[in-house]
Amino acid sequence: MKKKISFQAMGVHPVYRSATVLEVKQERREYVDLLLREPLIAQTAAPGQFLMIRAWPGVDPMLPRPFDIMQCDPREQTLRLFVKVEGRGTELLKSLKPGAEVKVTGPLGRPIQDYSFASLGLLVRGAGAAAVVHLAEASRARGIEVYTILSASTSSRIVCRNLLQPVSSELLIATDDGTEGYHGLATDLLDQMLQRTVIDRVYTCGSRRFARYVQQQDRSGRFAGFVFLEGLMACGLGDCHGCAVRKKDATGYHLVCRDGPHFPVREVEL
Ligand SMILES: Cc1cc2nc3c(=O)[nH]c(=O)nc-3n(C[C@H](O)[C@H](O)[C@H](O)COP(=O)(O)OP(=O)(O)OC[C@H]3O[C@@H](n4cnc5c(N)ncnc54)[C@H](O)[C@@H]3O)c2cc1C
Ligand code: FES
Repeated sequence: MKKKISFQAMGVHPVYRSATVLEVKQERREYVDLLLREPLIAQTAAPGQFLMIRAWPGVDPMLPRPFDIMQCDPREQTLRLFVKVEGRGTELLKSLKPGAEVKVTGPLGRPIQDYSFASLGLLVRGAGAAAVVHLAEASRARGIEVYTILSASTSSRIVCRNLLQPVSSELLIATDDGTEGYHGLATDLLDQMLQRTVIDRVYTCGSRRFARYVQQQDRSGRFAGFVFLEGLMACGLGDCHGCAVRKKDATGYHLVCRDGPHFPVREVEL
């Protein structure tokens, strides 16, 4: 398969391009599934990458918003985002109508290139699931076994199950209130899974607690752990340094938008 490298790694700044909104599906009250047509991103995005989107005229809100590229289809020239409505920017994304034009820049961040493992664990909470869909699909296409654990406060906040179920050898659910699946900590489910299955790599997203758990397990050699970080971002391009996170070895900072948004857990201070 052809290797993809990020614009930032090439020293090239991507520009804002117009994308057409093809579909806006409201998934329950607080989630929106957006299908966009933008040929360049659809043809070049790799798992692990994100884009910045501005779907409003003028400067309110001032900054574009970052979203994982949940899926892309190079043939159809489309990409899919999954949006949890949090504030003004995401409310405006929710109110988009098919046919609208939005501004996007991407793909941003570091593409995941290394698939030299046999099994992949995904430990994700809430909308953090959107970050790993592309990775799960790419892994499955390479014959890698995918084991998924979806966690949320309650059943109605379990998302992306329809996309992750078909590519997972096993998919388990944990809810804090017991409305679906295991009533308790998703990390307990992963512990149980690890007793019967070898999992080479685990990616986590959407919970600092999970990230710390993955860091501990990585340190004890149970698997290689990786984390998607979703801090606040202003430019998404490596210019503003607003997304800096401290390196674990205290030698400086990583920029989440340029060096991530996914990192080996052993490299970042959580
Ligand atoms: C690389 C990256 C990928 C992301 N991918 C997704 C995704 O696929 N789907 C998705 O739903 N969200 C994703 N996010 C988070 C998303 O960008 C924010 O929720 C969004 O920018 C909020 O914008 P807003 O204008 O609606 O909220 P604001 O009005 O800006 O903020 C509303 C509330 O949300 C909080 N908030 C804002 N940004 C973030 C953030 N980055 N993380 C956590 N809380 C935040 C604010 O502190 C505030 O409390 C991602 C973030 C990053 C950095
Ligand atoms: S968001 Fe500006 S440097 Fe990362």
